[in-house]
Amino acid sequence: MCECCGGDHNSLNVLVLLGPPGGGKGTQAKKIVEEFGFGHFSTGDALREEVRNQTEIGRQAQAIMESGELVPDELLGAMVKNRVEQAAESQGIILDGYPRTVAQAEFLSSFTADMKVVAVNIAVDQDQIVKRLSGRRFCPKCGTIYNISFSPPAVEGICDKCGTELARRKDDYEEVIRERLRVYDQKTQPVVDFYGASGCYFEVNGNVPPEEVFTEVEKIVSSL
Ligand code: AP5
Repeated sequence: MCECCGGDHNSLNVLVLLGPPGGGKGTQAKKIVEEFGFGHFSTGDALREEVRNQTEIGRQAQAIMESGELVPDELLGAMVKNRVEQAAESQGIILDGYPRTVAQAEFLSSFTADMKVVAVNIAVDQDQIVKRLSGRRFCPKCGTIYNISFSPPAVEGICDKCGTELARRKDDYEEVIRERLRVYDQKTQPVVDFYGASGCYFEVNGNVPPEEVFTEVEKIVSSL
């Protein structure tokens, strides 16, 4: 029996990583994968790939993402269901950036009733967020994330791991960051409340350095 919600499931199938834009979900997800070997599905990364490939989904999503709004729920539903069902039974999966609306959370619940779904919320103060996001750079080749203030590469603008020139996301400029935070408060904070009421919910302090955040995340995941 599940220790957090009393449900009839034992091993972790789905780890929902919650937190504001720039809260460190991607950073922590990578560490969890390295340590525990789960699959990782970031809806933001998946959408950016659709945009790069100019698919039908990508064409619908591009302008919405660049303005800091959320894409329509139905654009992601089938993609998420597919990935969760494929990965959850074998190794388990981290959902990074999904669900972001209560309707998405209800959709996820509709096909995971037999699975152990646990939410971990990385709580970060808003004044930290703007600095983090406006300083974020990423490697377009290997995906490594840097921050010009908190975790810069050894050589400015160049990836330590593969030597590729680093890039900046179009939604990581101050005006769009402020819009993303507004949308988060309005649409995604209620998702935190949704999981808070479920029992299978944990919160960690995301205001400290990534390694310290991970120490807390690691304790939680090890206990599941
Ligand atoms: P998405 O890519 O998911 O963006 P996000 O949720 O806004 O999150 P981020 O990726 O910006 O941040 P993060 O929490 O992963 O932080 P990171 O680890 O990189 O979504 C983009 C867009 O896609 C959305 O706006 C929306 O349009 C659309 N979308 C996606 N999912 C959707 C959905 N479900 N429904 C509808 N639309 C959807 O860290 C950020 C920076 O901080 C880095 O520079 C990092 O080095 C640094 N950092 C991390 N941790 C720390 C720390 N502890 N201390 C100091 N610095 C740190």
